Amino acid sequence: MTLKIRKTDDPILRQSTEQVTDFDDIDFQKLVDDMVETMRKENGIGLAAPQVGSTRKVLVCEYKGDKEENISVVPLTVLCNPEIVHTSAEEINMVEGCLSFPGLEILVKRPKKIKVKGQDRYGNNLQFEADKLYSRVLQHEIDHLNSTLLIDRMQKIDLIFIGSGTLGVPALSMLAIDPQYEIKMVVTGIAEAKSRNHKKLVNPIEEKAKELGLPILRTKDINNEKVVAELDSLKPTVAVMADFGQILSGEILSLPKLGIINIHPSLLPKHRGPSPIQQTILDGDKFTGVTLIRANEKMDEGGIISQVKVELNNTENATILKKYLAEIAANLLLNSLPYYIAGDLEPVPQDSAGVSYNKLFKKSDGLVDKDTSPLIVERKMRAFSDWPKVFTLINGKRIQLLTGHFDTDGELIIDLVKPEGKKEMTYDDFVRGYHTKLTFHG
Ligand code: CO
Repeated sequence: MTLKIRKTDDPILRQSTEQVTDFDDIDFQKLVDDMVETMRKENGIGLAAPQVGSTRKVLVCEYKGDKEENISVVPLTVLCNPEIVHTSAEEINMVEGCLSFPGLEILVKRPKKIKVKGQDRYGNNLQFEADKLYSRVLQHEIDHLNSTLLIDRMQKIDLIFIGSGTLGVPALSMLAIDPQYEIKMVVTGIAEAKSRNHKKLVNPIEEKAKELGLPILRTKDINNEKVVAELDSLKPTVAVMADFGQILSGEILSLPKLGIINIHPSLLPKHRGPSPIQQTILDGDKFTGVTLIRANEKMDEGGIISQVKVELNNTENATILKKYLAEIAANLLLNSLPYYIAGDLEPVPQDSAGVSYNKLFKKSDGLVDKDTSPLIVERKMRAFSDWPKVFTLINGKRIQLLTGHFDTDGELIIDLVKPEGKKEMTYDDFVRGYHTKLTFHG
């Protein structure tokens, strides 16, 4: 019979347990059978009696191993009245979950090897050594029998966040509310006005960091001696970087113990460079994605930690796509980080085939004229939706092309325009007012 798993704040998880003495008791033998059945049905690798509502000192564990993932076997074990009699000096980090805390994955440091003693389900004395996953699961279940839970073992990971643009905003927010992480500093650039009309110097990361009450360091040059010294004094385990726009020195790159993880919004090695989202749209790619790399001194060339692929429908503009990829990046980061810190996600060098680069676009890249192909005009309207926008010149005046689409005959229809010094208007109003049509035949 499978049993109901007690979860999160169920008081029995904190109750003290009693020694098993009545090994011949039918109810006890049934409890053990039910625990094994429940563990297997729930795809767990270990279960302690309090998790199924019993206060007896008994645990079960089992894992069939995974050769591909190189995870070792845990033999089916029933252990009563367990006691850890020796622990190795060596401690390792591992990501742990718990059937009583569905969805929670926490990095926990524990001794690598242990020696335990106790009794089997019939009361026979046992003493044995356990290593790797076996040692890990036994320690976790013995914790349960001592009313200690996974959340009590959480250790704070000190990290630094580096970024200026919108790409990193969801990642910063998620890191800030995750109790596993302590953000020691948010390093951000100084926003520059793109034009005189741009009154507000917006830096979305700084804004978010203020809202979250995080310490902020603004700098024009992260490699500056004083900045390096200040960051070094924080002794970060790892740093996360997104949309920063400054080149990092070797000194900064090696400052966090586990380096700097960079979020890049493309399927690296494709679209290395400062404008991957725009280039993806300009190229009419069918897929894009997010890649986490361990940053090195060459731009976007670091080893890949993890990557996620996203299908495009080729109607997305850069503004929407960036927002979407930022959310995906945050989830990818939070899912990958514990495994990276535990050493289970080794950066893999990028494939030298399929490398491509993009450039920083200029205002003039937004210019189109009657000789530009409709395909390019449509892609540019989407790729340059944030900046630099698409425009054409009529009698020396700039006409911004804001949105458009292809009709069922494959003809480019311009929907919204904004003539210089005027408000945005529909294309039909523009044609009526300016007595001119915009045509593209490239
Ligand atoms: Co558990």
